[in-house]
Amino acid sequence: MLNLIIFGPPGSGKGTQSSNLVKRYKLVHFSTGELLREEIAKDTPVGKEAKKYIDKGLLVPDDIVIPKLYRRASKYMDSPGFVFDGFPRTIVQAEALDQMFNKRKIPISLVVSVVVEEEELYRRIMGRSEDSGRSDDSDLVARRRLEIYKEETMPLISYYKAQGKIVAINGMAPVDEVFGKISHAIDTYLETNKILAVIH
Ligand code: AP5
Repeated sequence: MLNLIIFGPPGSGKGTQSSNLVKRYKLVHFSTGELLREEIAKDTPVGKEAKKYIDKGLLVPDDIVIPKLYRRASKYMDSPGFVFDGFPRTIVQAEALDQMFNKRKIPISLVVSVVVEEEELYRRIMGRSEDSGRSDDSDLVARRRLEIYKEETMPLISYYKAQGKIVAINGMAPVDEVFGKISHAIDTYLETNKILAVIH
């Protein structure tokens, strides 16, 4: 089983690259952002609660998000693997993920960290905002999301570095070029079991 985490700040291309990864490696896509937006669209109790946080650019509490992982991952344990996109975002979420997969002896294989300069992130989110229909793509909320990423999610880089699982990919390039670098990191891992530290 190939269990990937695609990690990075808002606008770094996690969703875009996940679509490519799903096709190439036949993985199940787990995007908490998408799952939460579906709940909001259906106006469920979870959706109503999540919206309060998403609209402010804050993280949705772990006790809402982690059960989403359990439910979805349990359904697809026979799949060739997962790509986790936008999850985990806190140490508590990372521990829940490790606990779930280590117990089944199918640990996280590789964490692909997509590195993009802050002004480019902001530019991409603003570019998308014209037709995304996302309530969190406004100017102020986008800035807040970037701040929250630094405060609450960046500490996961050290968490996965300590496990020797993270590869940093330069995401300041066209989509196909970034995908080429990500695929190179994954193929190297699959062929040699080695995790490259950085791909420029
Ligand atoms: P989520 O949906 O996960 O959004 P995000 O992390 O803020 O990321 P984005 O979707 O903005 O960007 P992305 O990195 O996927 O980039 P994309 O491919 O779209 O989360 C939304 C909210 O839900 C959170 O703020 C939080 O409130 C809540 N939430 C979600 N998960 C949670 C969790 N685990 N815990 C708690 N709360 C959670 O690309 C962006 C744009 O750039 C697109 O227009 C794209 O076409 C373009 N682009 C992509 N790559 C390139 C490239 N290489 N060059 C030029 N343009 C590019």
